[in-house]
Amino acid sequence: MIHVREATWRPLLSGLLLRTAAGVISVIISITGALAQSASVVERIKQCAACHGEDGNSQMANLPSLAGQPEFFIINQLFLMREGVRKVDAMAALVKDLKDGDLQALAKHYAAQPPKASGEPIDPALAQRGSELAATRRCGSCHQPALTGADQIPRIAKQRVDYLVTALKELRDGKRPGADTLMSQAVAGLSDADLTALAHFAASR
Ligand code: HEC
Ligand code: HEC
Repeated sequence: MIHVREATWRPLLSGLLLRTAAGVISVIISITGALAQSASVVERIKQCAACHGEDGNSQMANLPSLAGQPEFFIINQLFLMREGVRKVDAMAALVKDLKDGDLQALAKHYAAQPPKASGEPIDPALAQRGSELAATRRCGSCHQPALTGADQIPRIAKQRVDYLVTALKELRDGKRPGADTLMSQAVAGLSDADLTALAHFAASR
């Protein structure tokens, strides 16, 4: 089911505020004209599917699923990529000519797709350890108790295990430029084994 309309003209927006978890304004997109979409969003979604899966649930190692991510999180990340703040080499050529209207339409589409577990094996002992760590580190205070995310905070429930491990290491080690520093603090000092446990827990939710 595709929840986007081609060539939708939306009301003028004077600005879109992207807030960090602390409520600080981190980025302001100024949009002076109408939110035009480039090309066809349906065509775009076909391009995204090659890596992120037909229904937004990724079948490929280390590639994140987008299904069920909060709309605002997707807009925010695509914006950061387009502006070169979050560097994703695999997507650089794709995002550079996305219009603001495209970011919105793509985000709306993926937010509406039902998230599905990837089918990677979940180790129950690791998931249990992850659950304890998540309680101590209060992951649910930002990611929501069911880890579904909200606003600019990503869903981590049902995300791929391998991607979660990679992302958590990057965030802990300060290797994702532009990422929220509160997130890095949330995993500061954890070992690789701890991060793997957290990944098994989140993926199993
Ligand atoms: C050639 C493969 C490829 C294509 C095509 C691609 N992506 Fe990605 N995308 C990636 C990779 C790899 C990452 C993860 C980067 C990282 O490790 O931080 C990613 C990350 C993302 C993220 C951040 C997800 C998160 O959980 O942090 C979003 C949003 C996203 N892509 C949207 C899209 C959209 C929308 C399209 C189509 C316009 C698209 N991608 C096309 C490879 C691709
Ligand atoms: C203070 C709020 C906060 C807390 C606490 C927090 N996070 Fe996050 N987390 C964020 C934000 C904000 C992001 C988005 C980072 C960015 O800007 O790229 C994020 C991103 C992530 C990502 C990357 C997901 C993706 O799709 O790219 C993972 C994985 C993650 N958090 C896991 C956790 C885990 C596990 C915990 C507990 C140990 C935790 N977070 C605690 C706010 C928080």
